[in-house]
Amino acid sequence: MRIGLITGGGDCPGLNAAIRAVVKHAENSYGHSVVGFRHGWKGLAEGAAQPMSRNDVRNVLPLGGTLLGTARYHPDWDGAGMAAVAASIEEEKISALICIGGDGSLSAAARVAAETGINVVGIPKTIDNDVVMTDSTIGFDTAVNIATEAVDRLHTTAESHNRVMVLEVMGRSAGWLAVMAGIAGGAEIVLAPEAPFDMDRVERFLKHRHRARKSFSIVVVAEGAHPAKGTLDYEVAYGKHGELIAGSVGSVVAREIEQRTGFETRLTVLGHVQRGGSPLPTDRILGSRFGVAAVDAIQQGRSNVMTAKRGMDIELVDLAEVEGKVKHVPEDLLRTANALA
Ligand code: F6P
Repeated sequence: MRIGLITGGGDCPGLNAAIRAVVKHAENSYGHSVVGFRHGWKGLAEGAAQPMSRNDVRNVLPLGGTLLGTARYHPDWDGAGMAAVAASIEEEKISALICIGGDGSLSAAARVAAETGINVVGIPKTIDNDVVMTDSTIGFDTAVNIATEAVDRLHTTAESHNRVMVLEVMGRSAGWLAVMAGIAGGAEIVLAPEAPFDMDRVERFLKHRHRARKSFSIVVVAEGAHPAKGTLDYEVAYGKHGELIAGSVGSVVAREIEQRTGFETRLTVLGHVQRGGSPLPTDRILGSRFGVAAVDAIQQGRSNVMTAKRGMDIELVDLAEVEGKVKHVPEDLLRTANALA
């Protein structure tokens, strides 16, 4: 059997562990061959095939990014995309397809399965950890680690200068990274999309803290955090493909803090640093487990499913349950982040 493999959407650490697991398990355990396609759905539509063997996945576990390349593209975005994907699948004699992706790529996977009838298995990845039906996604742990290190580093310089440090981390739809790094790094305030913030409360809190002789503070802001309606006249604008068009919530929060409190404030936007570099062992292990489970699923003739971590186990869940949904940070984690300030 020839199994197609793509990585789609934003990259993250741990993708190569999943690619390696798919290639090795397919070849070693079942004698199947794997055909990768460069740059996700775009490469599949363009027929950018890259046959892969064990030799291609040697020594890749510590490498960040994706061996296959990736792109933000959905076959439904342009008129000819879906037909081109179907043609490529036929041309390369692909019998089943594994798509390693976030919410957008996984919903494309479900559409491709429906349109072409090919067996499709998804593997969830994103540093945002916002894919439903799975406890975690490839890349999230490593990103939390990077963001936590940033909070730790900001702490020492904040204290030396008596400053407020605002750290903006990724997380457009959900605040997993902000909340986890905020808890792990001991941030004073965490602002996440799940709980619209009130700048008056932020101001009161910081003034109170500084009166209590703590003359520095760390504020972690998820890029998708937003003010409660009517509290601050400000909006972040996103384009059709989710790209940031205007504003950065971190810069608004930093500006407001400095203007309202008079405390010297600095902004750090962590940006793509949190998506790059070598994966932590947990992401290498998760990627490996998902890769093996995806190949097993194909071997069992399963389709329209996604590998998922549920507790200690790796299970298969229906892709239809995943499509178009966002896994939000639960209330108890938000409370923990704010209760410890
Ligand atoms: O990987 C998901 C994500 O990290 C989002 O949090 C962020 O908004 C987006 O990617 C930015 O990615 P890019 O610059 O690649 O479009």
